[in-house]
Amino acid sequence: MSSIPNLPFEHVKIASNVDFYDSWAAQYDQSNPLQRVDDKLFEDNVLPRIAFLPRSQPVHIMDLGCGTGRNTTKLVPLLPPGSRITGVEQSEAMLNIAKPKFMENRSVNFIRSSLEALEVTEDEKVDALISTLVLEHVPLAPFFQVAARVLKSGGWAWVTSMHPDLGSQGQASFTNEEGKKVVGVSWNHTPEATIAAAEQEGLFLEGEVVIGRGGEKEKEKWQDVKMGVGFLFIKI
Ligand SMILES: C[S@@+](CC[C@H](N)C(=O)[O-])C[C@H]1O[C@@H](n2cnc3c(N)ncnc32)[C@H](O)[C@@H]1O
Repeated sequence: MSSIPNLPFEHVKIASNVDFYDSWAAQYDQSNPLQRVDDKLFEDNVLPRIAFLPRSQPVHIMDLGCGTGRNTTKLVPLLPPGSRITGVEQSEAMLNIAKPKFMENRSVNFIRSSLEALEVTEDEKVDALISTLVLEHVPLAPFFQVAARVLKSGGWAWVTSMHPDLGSQGQASFTNEEGKKVVGVSWNHTPEATIAAAEQEGLFLEGEVVIGRGGEKEKEKWQDVKMGVGFLFIKI
């Protein structure tokens, strides 16, 4: 499996995703169409699951590739008292945006690490994992190996990515100060390959693959296009 080799638009390529996200960090929180689709998938699929957690049972959730803490922020007020969130992120600049958002909150901690290098002890295994818009940047096998390593048996993982229909036209990118599109290293994984790689590591899809389409707010070219895809896996 190789990363996306050619793009049908002029771009500047950064060969390391750490450098790519270090360069994007300052602008990352200005919402983009894929983030908006991803927000809706999160609202529809993760928030109801969190709402049903028993209030008397604290949970430990990992946000793998947490970036600027876009989704960590949404979880904090909703978890049962005593719960913890660990954000894992390899870009220092992204983490430097995330950390001040949780200065007053001791239930959130961050680990600067690539997901591939992440090791957890038996005690540190988590009840649930979220990893939004990260899968595009990682080959499937190492991604699901770490997901299986950090999750307790019976735990769930919410994983989202760019949908292959959108991935066939582009990849994660931002526009730099010179007006040039900048890209890092991405893969255009299919849902079928994603599910097969997860199963190899003992993570099984619950329900259906969910698809996020461009909404009315988006430019005409994105309306109704399959932009995002989400999977809820259970670790057996
Ligand atoms: C598109 S951003 C998503 C950030 C956040 N999850 C969100 O939904 O806003 C992808 C993030 O994954 C991180 N990332 C990419 N590859 C990674 C890896 N191998 N290990 C850890 N983090 C990684 C990037 O640094 C970046 O912050």
